[in-house]
Amino acid sequence: MTVNLAARTAHRSDFCGELQANDEGREVVLCGWVNARREHSQHLAFVDLRDHTGVVQCVVDNAHDLRNEYVLRVTGVVTKRTVDTVNPNLGTGEIEIKECEVEVLSTAEPLPFQMDGRTDVDENLRLRHRYLDLRSERMQRNLRLRSRVNSAIRGAMEAQGFVEIETPFLIASTPEGARDFVVPSRHSPGQFYALPQSPQLFKQLCMVGGVDRYYQIARCLRDEDLRADRQFEFTQLDAEASFVSQDDVLAFVTEAVAAATEAVTGERPGEIPRMTWHDAMERYGSDKPDIRFGMELVELTEVFAGTGFNAFKAPAVKGLRVPGGAGKTRKQLDELTDKAKQWGAKGLVWMKVQDGGALNSPVAKFLSEQEQTGIAKVLDAEPGDLLLLVADERAKARHVLGLLRLELGRPPVNEGGFSFLWVVDFPLFEALDEHGSPIPAHHPFTMPHEDDMALLDTADPTDLLQVRSQAYDLTLNGWELGSGSVRIHRPDIQSRMFALLGIGEDEARRKFGFLLDAFTYGAPPHAGFAFGIDRLATLLAGEENIREVIAFPKTQTGADPLTGAPTEIDPAHLDELGLRLLPEKQ
Ligand code: AMO
Ligand code: AMP
Repeated sequence: MTVNLAARTAHRSDFCGELQANDEGREVVLCGWVNARREHSQHLAFVDLRDHTGVVQCVVDNAHDLRNEYVLRVTGVVTKRTVDTVNPNLGTGEIEIKECEVEVLSTAEPLPFQMDGRTDVDENLRLRHRYLDLRSERMQRNLRLRSRVNSAIRGAMEAQGFVEIETPFLIASTPEGARDFVVPSRHSPGQFYALPQSPQLFKQLCMVGGVDRYYQIARCLRDEDLRADRQFEFTQLDAEASFVSQDDVLAFVTEAVAAATEAVTGERPGEIPRMTWHDAMERYGSDKPDIRFGMELVELTEVFAGTGFNAFKAPAVKGLRVPGGAGKTRKQLDELTDKAKQWGAKGLVWMKVQDGGALNSPVAKFLSEQEQTGIAKVLDAEPGDLLLLVADERAKARHVLGLLRLELGRPPVNEGGFSFLWVVDFPLFEALDEHGSPIPAHHPFTMPHEDDMALLDTADPTDLLQVRSQAYDLTLNGWELGSGSVRIHRPDIQSRMFALLGIGEDEARRKFGFLLDAFTYGAPPHAGFAFGIDRLATLLAGEENIREVIAFPKTQTGADPLTGAPTEIDPAHLDELGLRLLPEKQ
């Protein structure tokens, strides 16, 4: 018998799901919802009573009035079931509650959907009645898992000397690259606050303020298109520290995610490997590689250096070996080719490795003997394998093959364990815009890699794309979990960066003047990181969509079917804010 003190309240003595055979003979008072009622005889029924810990069977006289989801208080005696009535599928299956006195605390209307966890319920209906959905075992498990994750993260950060600081919600814009949600100001009509896309600028100001180590479990808001791993509102573990290197940051973030993982799985993940961004792109065609499985991309450009096959006369040829994939039908291969084209490839060459090693492919006749043996050798081909090849610009070829790799090899979310990976040495710029100005890959306060500083002064803008930064990401099972960087703390480097980004002095002052000013008064070198707690909790829960670990999420279109948000506001309120609505766009 283990007494759970959290169960003991003025209303009850125990939780439903925790009673066991060794509680036999105890009189208990339970509170919960009617999960199901089964008639046993005219006067006797089995009522399954449920709370967040599970279900227990109560044997109740005259239960005719009790309906599903009524809230009851049941007083009764824990009794062992006879051997033939033990239910091995129920946590409390060895016992039942007898001699029950039942008090109805609350009645319930018939539910708008089945809560048995087996029926597929329309997402809108679930979210409209989210409070009912939250009663499900799945949501109870997920919310409690998330609470453990938060608490472990908090503990790990505190133990490492980080100080929790709350930063404001009503701010000027943060440069995270998404659209801001804005809030009109009543005191200053025509002016707006932005809601924070992250606490980025404030945490840097905390460093100037001598905080040394800051953290926050921070709510962030970004107006972007919603996906399985994106909501408008989400939560980050946000951290920043002074007088630290990239390695220091990686170490303290590792500690936080390891503690969170351990809180859920009971095991600390092993050492988190590191890979450069360049290697990740070459080997996996992605900056967030799913390393739970192999199937790495292979370099074939050399093999086709002097090829006569037109399609392979390209800057890069890359290949992918699908072990045992030769059984694919012509139709399946055509579908893969269509996908590759949708993803931007000009085409897809497939080859089936036959017994004896010969390659069966529609294009085999265009390839020399030497090329065919070259492919098989470099790809380590075995009979029964399928080989896929794409020729194109290097970035395009690896992107498409990276997606094919996921399509053909990626394990389901809840299989293959938790493979964290640090991706380091991100490029400073991701591309050039239409004016030839580089676009920052992280944000404009990211410190360039020390070895690449000289390249910043180069005349040729395409060289700028070679510049590495001191920015790093943490990935988990192919999801981007978080990002961070060593920051620029010197005004001269910051001005240089703004100039490169095509941000003029006036614009820089207007947008970030307060930060630049702060940096003139003694800014310590500093670095930081933020990872998505929704995403971490989702993967640890074995779920596919971050909605499943958020109590009150939005739908794909950003609506909240429960409260009806977003809603119109009173004309008088608009007036007060100095706003007038335009007629709807046709
Ligand atoms: P970044 O923009 O990469 O970095 O965000 C960090 C992490 O936050 C999570 N995240 C989201 N989760 C759910 N829904 C969203 N819409 C969403 N957007 C981001 C992701 C992401 O990896 N200030 C920097 C960090 C730093 O440099 O210290 C930042 O916010 O898991
Ligand atoms: P084509 O010469 O365009 O008829 O293409 C011959 C075969 O090569 C087809 O199976 C195409 O899908 C494939 N193919 C064409 N271009 C490429 C490319 N850039 N990379 C890989 N396969 C290609």
